[in-house]
Amino acid sequence: MTQIQIFRDSQALANAAAELFIKLAEQSVRDQGRFSVALSGGNTPSTLYQVLANPENQERLNWAGIHLFWGDERHVPPDHKESNYRKIRETLLDRIAIPEENVHRVKAEMEERLAALSYEQVLRDFFVGQWPRFDLILLGLGEDGHTASLFPHSAGLKEEERWFIPNYAPKREKMRLTLTKNAINAAKNIAVLVSGASKAGILAEVLRESDNLVDTPIQLILPRDGEMIWLLDNQSASQLAYQQSS
Ligand code: 6PG
Repeated sequence: MTQIQIFRDSQALANAAAELFIKLAEQSVRDQGRFSVALSGGNTPSTLYQVLANPENQERLNWAGIHLFWGDERHVPPDHKESNYRKIRETLLDRIAIPEENVHRVKAEMEERLAALSYEQVLRDFFVGQWPRFDLILLGLGEDGHTASLFPHSAGLKEEERWFIPNYAPKREKMRLTLTKNAINAAKNIAVLVSGASKAGILAEVLRESDNLVDTPIQLILPRDGEMIWLLDNQSASQLAYQQSS
């Protein structure tokens, strides 16, 4: 099922995303003894990570049962300014008490094929079954309709078997590492966080399923057996029919 939730601004969006994260984590740790989440890179989720790291949320999060993964990573070392791991270390990991073995970093300093194979093995060791069934995958949306590191016209869009792959972003001329569409779609919950006026156009086209869109990666994302939740703010939702008043 797909839900669309609109919030008055990016802080309210981040607060709601944090509540969703905390609720799902509590349920998963209670019901199955662990919670697996794939984190998104980019700027949008930074506020969410800061909210999750706030002192008042620490007694609500049983980090010993929470396993952090990365939905994608740039092909750079972990201390590089573009590294998603570095951003999440600075906004979240350095501020919480999470067991080191629960932080599953992509070793993006390796040659890209080895890095992807190595991370796919990490996923296969953690998840049993044909696909990795994350309890939650956080995604963002680029103005070109990319999500994770699945970019328009990139070879990775066609991958049907693998869980985690290297994927060259043609327009950015950059190598990335990413979950594949089928791995993402195996999740129990997918939350797409979209904030800011710059995303209003692409978001309206995607949610209206406009036929102007061709080869738009986010349109390949829909959980096969799970929930998809769009968390928007008034700015990103400004071209949709409805707005959040409060
Ligand atoms: C990344 C993300 C990417 C991001 C979008 C939106 O590594 O950057 O995986 O898919 O979510 O580009 O980025 P912003 O949140 O910065 O707009």
